[in-house]
Amino acid sequence: MKGIILAGGLGTRLDPLTRITNKHLLPIYNKPMIHYPLESLIGAGITDIQIVTGGKNAGHFLELLGNGHELGLPHLNYTYQQGNGGIAEALGLCEHFAAGEKICVILGDNILEKSIARQAQAFEKQEDGGRILLKKVPDPERFGVPVFNGDRLTAIEEKPKQPQSDYAVIGVYFYDNTVFDFIRGLSPSARGELEISDVNNLYLNAGKLEYDYVDGWWSDAGTFNSLQHVGELVRKTGANNPL
Ligand code: DAU
Repeated sequence: MKGIILAGGLGTRLDPLTRITNKHLLPIYNKPMIHYPLESLIGAGITDIQIVTGGKNAGHFLELLGNGHELGLPHLNYTYQQGNGGIAEALGLCEHFAAGEKICVILGDNILEKSIARQAQAFEKQEDGGRILLKKVPDPERFGVPVFNGDRLTAIEEKPKQPQSDYAVIGVYFYDNTVFDFIRGLSPSARGELEISDVNNLYLNAGKLEYDYVDGWWSDAGTFNSLQHVGELVRKTGANNPL
């Protein structure tokens, strides 16, 4: 399985912090943000990785990470997203890199306490389709939110005003190669982006979406509050710890 980190977009919610550097290079406790999703993938045994960057300071990723040798990687791949056309648009740039293999996609601002190795192994055993990860949160309206009928997942709603469950679909997604066909068929949402929740709903409607839960805490880091909060969590427990 290959790994993809989406670190494009413009980080406007963190302006003015993101005026002179990329959001994913901002510090979370003692490391730049991008280190955490990289460690999530590496901890799950995924070492063939592509980073999608964007914005004005994409060269800083190369200066920081180079070929990934300090993280124990043999090589790192990069690609560039113009503007902020959405998470699914950024992922669509990775078709050549994926080259038909299964992929684990992680958003560059998603930080986890525990390893995702267990969930990655479950997806390796899954014949095809997609797999999303859920976490109970106090503020589901900020995220993609699953709708259930009993245990059966029936839909995913992106930032619903009235969430139908208290779970977030976190920014770690496992997909087979069908994902690139699904992305080609998407239209921009009301906020002008190609939405990853639309991709997940296409898998769901095809009867090909499995779900699993996150171990330990999970947080995004895309707002001032979440950025500060996750720094405190990392200081207390560390991140990407073994199960
Ligand atoms: O954090 C999990 C949530 O991430 C999910 O629950 C939502 O379903 C999903 O839409 C997303 O929500 P956000 O609105 O918080 O995503 P945001 O725009 O902050 O983008 C998250 C990361 O995705 C960002 O750090 C970099 C990457 N990204 C985003 C955009 C819009 C790109 O690479 N390119 C983009 O154009």
